[in-house]
Order: sequence, then C-alpha cells, then structure tokens
Amino acid sequence: MRADAASITRLSEFALQVRDVSRVFSTHRGEQVTALGASSANVKAGEFIALVGPSGCGKTTLLKIIGGLLPPSAGSVTYKGEPVTGPVDDLGIVFQQPILLDWRTVQSNITLQLSLRHLLDPAEQAERARALLASVGLAGFEDRYPWELSGGQQQRVSLCRALVHRPGLLLMDEPFGALDAMTREQLQADLEELWIAARPIVVFVTHDVGEAVSLADRVLVFSGKPGRIVEDIRIDVPRPRAASLLENPKLQNYAKQVRALLGPGNVPPKAVASSSTTSNTVRVQS
Ligand SMILES: Nc1ncnc2c1ncn2[C@@H]1O[C@H](COP(=O)(O)OP(=O)(O)OP(=O)(O)O)[C@@H](O)[C@H]1O
Ligand SMILES: [Mg+2]
Repeated sequence: MRADAASITRLSEFALQVRDVSRVFSTHRGEQVTALGASSANVKAGEFIALVGPSGCGKTTLLKIIGGLLPPSAGSVTYKGEPVTGPVDDLGIVFQQPILLDWRTVQSNITLQLSLRHLLDPAEQAERARALLASVGLAGFEDRYPWELSGGQQQRVSLCRALVHRPGLLLMDEPFGALDAMTREQLQADLEELWIAARPIVVFVTHDVGEAVSLADRVLVFSGKPGRIVEDIRIDVPRPRAASLLENPKLQNYAKQVRALLGPGNVPPKAVASSSTTSNTVRVQS
C-alpha cells in the first residue's frame, strides 16, 4: 500500500513525460529515415528545458511530438497525466520566424486565438495584449502593423502571442536564432522574466550553448544523427541569470561541459550511456 502511494507521488511529480519516443519518416523516394532515436525525459511543472544537439538530430521532431503536432513512431508522451494524442490544449509555440499576419495589427495578431476561441471579452483581451507588450518593451505598439516593426520587435510580438492564453506548455524552436546578439540578449532576459512570472513548462531548442545554459533549469543534449537524448545536465545557478553568462564562471563551466559533449565524435551513444555520472549530470541509459 505504502509503495503504491510512493510510486503515485513519484509519477505525479512530472507534468510532462516522454517515454522512449522515436520517429521514422518515409521520404518521397520511399526510404525510411530515423529522425529521432528512442528518447526519454521527465519534466516537472514549471521547469525550463533546453534541447541542444547537432543539426538534423531530431530536436524539432521531438518538439512537435511533445506538442501533439506529430505522432511518434514508437513510445509515448504524457502531459498532466493524459496521453498526448493530438495538439495539446494549453500550448504556446514560438518559431524562429515570427509568422505574423501582415493585415492585422499587433494587438489583433496577439489576441487572434482568444477571439477565435471566444475566450475573454474584447476589453480583457486588449488588456492582456497591452500588459504583455509592455513587459517586452513594446508599450504603445498595439495599433502598429507587423511590417512597421523590426525583426526583433516582430519576434517579441510572436512571444506575446504565444503567451496570451497563459499556456502551461511553451515550445520554442530556435526563437532567437535570427536576431542580432544585442536583441537576443534582451529577449532572453524578457523571456526569463515572463517565465518566472507565469511558470509554464518551456521546451526551448537552440544551437547557442550559452543561451541554453543561461536560460534552462536542465539542458538535454542530443547525440548526432539519428539523434537521441544522451545527457541531462542540471544548471544549478540562481535566477535571474539570462544575461550573466559572461560574468558567471559557473555558467561558463556548464557551457564548456555542453560544448565538449557536442564536439565532433564526442557523443557516441553507447559510450555515453555507459559512462559514470557527475553530480549535476544524468547520463541517459540506453
Ligand atoms: N517530413 C520528413 N521526411 C523525411 N525526413 C525528415 C522529415 N522531417 C525531418 N526529417 C529528417 O529528420 C531528421 C531530423 O529533423 P529535425 O528537423 O527534427 O532536426 P533538427 O535537430 O531540428 O535540425 P536543425 O537543428 O537543423 O533544425 C533530419 O535528418 C531530417 O532530414
Ligand atoms: Mg530544427
């Protein structure tokens, strides 16, 4: 009886569970491509997870599977105790490009989903958009059109759009990859602040190791093609810390650790899976 209660507590500790998820695609020539090898991860409510790995290792594929936008070939995803079999309800997504509707104002881009789903009355929708815009430094931009904004401003709007319905799960696929270094740093700080205030689960794909260790509670490292999660590094540094990578030796060490894993030939899946662990590192078993 006691063991049952303990195992229920242990299970419910994780709001998002990815169990042995893999994905095979058929190409237009009929070839089978393994986009993602069997990968597992347990994520607690409110955790910020970064995914890093070589190009083509399956990060975007895993992100889509987590959000229920793509079915896995094997394995399963559970969110808030329910199996994910289609798009997750309280999902927010930010892509590398903002993808805003040019004929709608900034405010109506942000509130579009709320309007379509008849969530909140127009005054409340407007108030949410206004507050979010203010929090990313765009107070007063409500009536502008996307084509009147810079790339960084457009990406801020797409972040507001992803957060306006207060999602429990925020998926971000290289959201700041197309921005200059200064804008990226500002947006990292904005994101950390918004995340601290609302605490959704964030799954954040990036090629920027500094960005991953600065923002995330845990960095999941993928092996090369076909990729799978081979390392889970907990970033034990107090917040807020988004812009402090250069000054914080601990963050620099974490970045070094991740870079070493990503170096050419450094992550043969079997060798990593059987190696010993360090205190902040979980080597994922095969
Ligand atoms: N629809 C598809 N059909 C066939 N192969 C696909 C398809 N989608 C992705 N792939 C392949 O699956 C692999 C993983 O793709 P994915 O987009 O998940 O990689 P990624 O890690 O996000 O890469 P990047 O860092 O370059 O964005 C790649 O080798 C890709 O060519
Ligand atoms: Mg990708």
